[in-house]
This record gives sequence, C-alpha cells and structure tokens, in this order.
Amino acid sequence: MKLIIGISGATGAIFGIRLLEVLNQVEDVETHLVLSKWAVTTIVEETEYSVDEVKSIADYSYSPSDLGAAISSGSFNIDGMIVAPCSMKSLASISLGLADNLITRAADVILKERKQLLLMTRETPLNAIHLEHMLKLSQMGVSIFPPMPAFYNHPLDLNEMIDHIVFRLLSQFNIHQLPEDKIWTGFKKRNLKRAIT
Ligand SMILES: Cc1cc2nc3c(=O)[nH]c(=O)nc-3n(C[C@H](O)[C@H](O)[C@H](O)COP(=O)(O)O)c2cc1C
Repeated sequence: MKLIIGISGATGAIFGIRLLEVLNQVEDVETHLVLSKWAVTTIVEETEYSVDEVKSIADYSYSPSDLGAAISSGSFNIDGMIVAPCSMKSLASISLGLADNLITRAADVILKERKQLLLMTRETPLNAIHLEHMLKLSQMGVSIFPPMPAFYNHPLDLNEMIDHIVFRLLSQFNIHQLPEDKIWTGFKKRNLKRAIT
C-alpha cells in the first residue's frame, strides 16, 4: 500500500509523527511525506523531534513547493492520503481545489482519482466556513477525522490517548493496530447494572 502523509501547520504535529512511526512498523506500507511550511514550525515548537528526524521516518519525503513531484500526478499509483493534522487553511484549499502546494495538489489528485482521503481536521471552535468545507468533502467520500480523545479505553497518559486516535484513524484504511484490550467490547461486569437498565 502506498500512502501519502501530509502534515500541515495545525497544532498536533505529534499525530502525524506517530502515524509515520506506526506505519513504519507495518509491513508493505510505503509512506510519501509532505510537511507544509507551517508544519515545520509546529514540529519544532511542539515536539522533541527535529524536522530531519521526522522526514527520515518516511520512505519518501518531498518539499511542499515541489509540484513536479511524483505524487503530484494521477499516473503515480497511490492508494490513499492522510493529512494529520489538517489546518483549516489546508482544508479550505482542498475543498476549493486550489492545489497551491504539494499537500493540497496531492489531495486534489486523490479526489479526482477517487482514492481514499482522510483529513484530521484540527480547530476549535469551528465556524460555518470550516463546517461547510467539511460537509462538502464528507459528501464526496472524504473521512473527516478530528482528533477526538476517547475515555472508555482508560488512557493512562497523553501518549496512550494519541496512539488510540492514530490506531482508530488507521482502521479507516483497514490497518488494524488497536491492542485487543483497548477495543470496546461492551460493558464490563461491574457496569452490568447500567447496561441492563
Ligand atoms: C503553534 C501553531 C498552532 C496552530 N494551530 C492551528 C490549528 O489548530 N488549526 C488551524 O487551522 N491552524 C492552526 N495554526 C495556523 C496555521 O499554521 C496557518 O493557518 C497556516 O497558514 C496553515 O498552513 P498549512 O495548512 O499550509 O500548513 C497554528 C499555527 C501555529 C503557529
């Protein structure tokens, strides 16, 4: 499976980084990474990783201004694309088909080729412009996947919370990494009363 991973300049660069790390451990997945100009800033500002370290996790890495890159063309066979996190600017650009950098151009190609696109949209609160873009893209088959934490899995720390979101995201691509004990299997015995009432 060949996947494009875009990391844009919304807060939460760690989601894109963990995604790359997990995919690195999955057999037969090739990753093609694009960091936006502002993702470079959030990586440095928010994480312990250097930009070069992040690039080295991916199989291939491209400059966001390289609109001549292989992934800029529909003739280069790609299975899908994930933008994590996806800023409201990248969301708008994809929704409007601007194709103004390699992330948004690659997403435009994914849409025209009718391949799978997932956007981990990150902003809060959301205004009507954000919501309209998300609705439009969702109606075109795009997965709109904001990084919402779950609590039923009893995360012990932020890393577990991030991993749970990344694993749930990957299941959209039929890549199943969620540990068995983190899958919801119904109420536990201690909660049986609540389940029955
Ligand atoms: C530390 C930091 C956090 C940001 N967080 C968000 C965010 O959560 N969502 C968002 O839409 N934009 C956020 N921005 C603004 C984007 O970086 C900005 O709109 C940028 O133009 C996005 O461009 P890109 O999508 O090409 O990366 C943030 C900027 C900085 C510096």
